[in-house]
Amino acid sequence: MKMISKIILPIIFSIIITGCNATNNTIEPVKEEVKESNVEVVNKDTNTEIKEENKVDNKEEQPVDEKDLAVVYFSVTGNTKTVAEYIKSELDADIFEIVPKQQYVDADLQYNDRNTRATKEQDDKTSRPEIKNDIDISKYDTILLGYPIWWGDCPRIIQTFIETDKLNGKNVIPFCTSGSSGISGSESTLKQYKDVNWQPGKRLTTSKDEVTNWVRSLDIKSSDKSKENNNLNTIKIEVNNKELIVELEENEATNELVQKLNSGNVVVEANEYGGFEKVGSLGFSLTREDKQVTTKAGDLVLYQGNQISLFYDSNSWSYTKLGKVTNMSANELKEVLGSGDVTLTLKK
Ligand SMILES: Cc1cc2nc3c(=O)[nH]c(=O)nc-3n(C[C@H](O)[C@H](O)[C@H](O)COP(=O)(O)O)c2cc1C
Repeated sequence: MKMISKIILPIIFSIIITGCNATNNTIEPVKEEVKESNVEVVNKDTNTEIKEENKVDNKEEQPVDEKDLAVVYFSVTGNTKTVAEYIKSELDADIFEIVPKQQYVDADLQYNDRNTRATKEQDDKTSRPEIKNDIDISKYDTILLGYPIWWGDCPRIIQTFIETDKLNGKNVIPFCTSGSSGISGSESTLKQYKDVNWQPGKRLTTSKDEVTNWVRSLDIKSSDKSKENNNLNTIKIEVNNKELIVELEENEATNELVQKLNSGNVVVEANEYGGFEKVGSLGFSLTREDKQVTTKAGDLVLYQGNQISLFYDSNSWSYTKLGKVTNMSANELKEVLGSGDVTLTLKK
């Protein structure tokens, strides 16, 4: 996955940009990463526009502690700023902009030239562009941190900000805007900073409905509560009165699954199949990053985007890996799952 985000994805992005700018050689925008969620991608830089209908209109209010929240964002061409302001007004949160000491001008942002400033900064992992303003977020527990995706990653100035240690000990929910790339490549960079309680992030478009629905789906907890009970990297599965601990992969699908589980348990009626798995419908879709894999006992995978399979033996197929059971041996798991259909209750 890292490979895809860091190498292939920027190449795809480069191809999109080159293709869209070419005059006689039109290449269709790649829609691979445009998800089922509400999508209205307006990439002002490239004039690419991809729209889908809003499918979700969830007006149900979620419990959100708004007192300790702030939105911090970096934006050059205004997309992330638009999203940050929607979040601010939905949560009535304070908002701060990360302002670079040396402003980015158009010439700094040209994708086709590897020698332009933004691209050179992304290519140099040690680059830390200076920040002009002093952002005091000491009184907030939870920060929503927004940025554009640059070459599959967060802009290096975001690392400058994190390295001020101002986010240490806080819950931080990343969000990004992009032409088409997802957030997961940048999350790998963010998670190197282990003193921050990173929450699942989200790529958003400048659709107000999409932003509002996402904000309402968040279950924002105080830092202390989060440390007690919000281990991001695991979920549980209850089956036949036993509890399985599943260590999650880092990808969009697991981010989305954790967000679902923050709003309540998910019950999957899973059928016995093939003498190696229990498989059943989730009732919703997650982002697919299918790859041909050979599963092992304990693997939890996403199948066809909307079903999960829990393996007690091996099979080779194209799946998106979600995680693996860590608290049982293969034999124990096989015994717990039994020979018939099972009810899997997924929970945080
Ligand atoms: C240097 C540079 C690199 C970019 N790389 C990507 C990329 O890898 N994938 C992508 O989908 N969009 C990429 N974009 C597009 C931006 O992510 C997108 O336009 C974003 O919404 C800009 O946010 P802003 O308006 O807040 O600055 C890139 C833009 C720039 C300037």
